[in-house]
Amino acid sequence: MSGRSNGTVGLPQEWIRRKRDGHELTSAELHAFVEGVTSGAVSEAQIAAFAMAVYFQDLSVQERVELTLAVRDSGRVLAWDAQSLGGPVLDKHSTGGVGDTASLMLAPMLAACGAYVPMIAGRGLAHTGGTIDKLESIPGYQTGVNVSHFQRVVRDCGFAIVRQTDDLAPADRRMYATRDVTATVENLGLITASIVSKKLAAGLQHLVLDVKCGNGAVMQDQAEARALAESMVAVGNGAGMNTSALLTDMSVPLAWSAGNAVEVHEAVSYLRNEGPRHPRLDEVVMSLGAKLLVQADMHITPEDARRQLRHVLDNGRALELFAQSIAHMGGDAAVAEKPEQVLPQAPVVRPVFAPHAGVLTSYDVRQVGMAVVELGGGRTRPDASIDPSVGLTQLPLVGQAIAQGDPLVTVHAASEEAWQAAQHRLLGAMVFDGNEQLPDVVVGHVG
Ligand code: URA
Repeated sequence: MSGRSNGTVGLPQEWIRRKRDGHELTSAELHAFVEGVTSGAVSEAQIAAFAMAVYFQDLSVQERVELTLAVRDSGRVLAWDAQSLGGPVLDKHSTGGVGDTASLMLAPMLAACGAYVPMIAGRGLAHTGGTIDKLESIPGYQTGVNVSHFQRVVRDCGFAIVRQTDDLAPADRRMYATRDVTATVENLGLITASIVSKKLAAGLQHLVLDVKCGNGAVMQDQAEARALAESMVAVGNGAGMNTSALLTDMSVPLAWSAGNAVEVHEAVSYLRNEGPRHPRLDEVVMSLGAKLLVQADMHITPEDARRQLRHVLDNGRALELFAQSIAHMGGDAAVAEKPEQVLPQAPVVRPVFAPHAGVLTSYDVRQVGMAVVELGGGRTRPDASIDPSVGLTQLPLVGQAIAQGDPLVTVHAASEEAWQAAQHRLLGAMVFDGNEQLPDVVVGHVG
């Protein structure tokens, strides 16, 4: 273990003790700690103790920046020559939601506008969906390609979406796995280092974070979500990546669908300009896209940027790049033409009917997400496999008046019993005739 200072930086147990007692750790100590995590010199017990000490004592902004840089440097850092690419290298990152399929549309739309999007995405976590699980519902799509293949697809198609590989931010994998089983995930400094280090390892110039709040979000409380956004924006900018954030509402499902194949289908319909776009999903896609294009100096005003984003939908360029990137990743590009023929279909597809008349006034979105998990579309153990075909479609909008016996939501299930269980959960997750006011989709900006 070398550390960054000129001399000895001590032992892990000393840094843990200093953090436990509320002291600020030096850059050298934090870098040496992460080097030990990567090499194996720091034990699981020491990672757990460090994380718990940070959980109670927190990290200063400077410590967060140093920890983030150390985790970034624990593996390979991608280099892009924006000059020879001819456009900025950028991405968005969502803290996770239900029906949050925005990445699948936004990446090809940004590419069609001239940007380059190397997206390293995750799997579903708890009740929230994951872009990697969604893409893996496309037959043949390889999310685990090597770095040179990833970089080639980004160069040729303007975007590629892959899962985290062993050589990018490997210290985060070990630290996250330990945090996950020691009740130390929920610390802003550790979450910041975990997320921002991976974005820095992807070599981004610009990042817009989509930090969710509301009952379907990991950080439900708006003040907490804002604190996380401020932390990630400060650290991203401190580490030299132009970073900003939107706070967006996750107290209603973000799309007509929730699940894996069903969300890919909805993304294709969106890119094809087919059927009504979900108004909240459309607003999130446009808001994040416009913020990125303005941040990267590709447009002067958000209105211009929105016009360009609409233009690449209308002229079919975003759809074309979507199909190209999928083909380069081994997937069946016919999904962009005939998703219903390419994507897996569940054997039981039937609506739940409204038991009584009323106006839908709110959702328990966590329960909607749990209905998808229970159908088999998410995991109850980290190593479990999922059923890509199951999920929900035609989720109603808040404010919709529903007559008794109307179809309320369509459940795609692997069996009759699974369909019944989902019906039960969903009816308990929708509130009719309440007094709740639905917030706007974008509830705040940071940076
Ligand atoms: N997602 C991550 O990648 N890391 C965290 O710490 C929390 C969510």
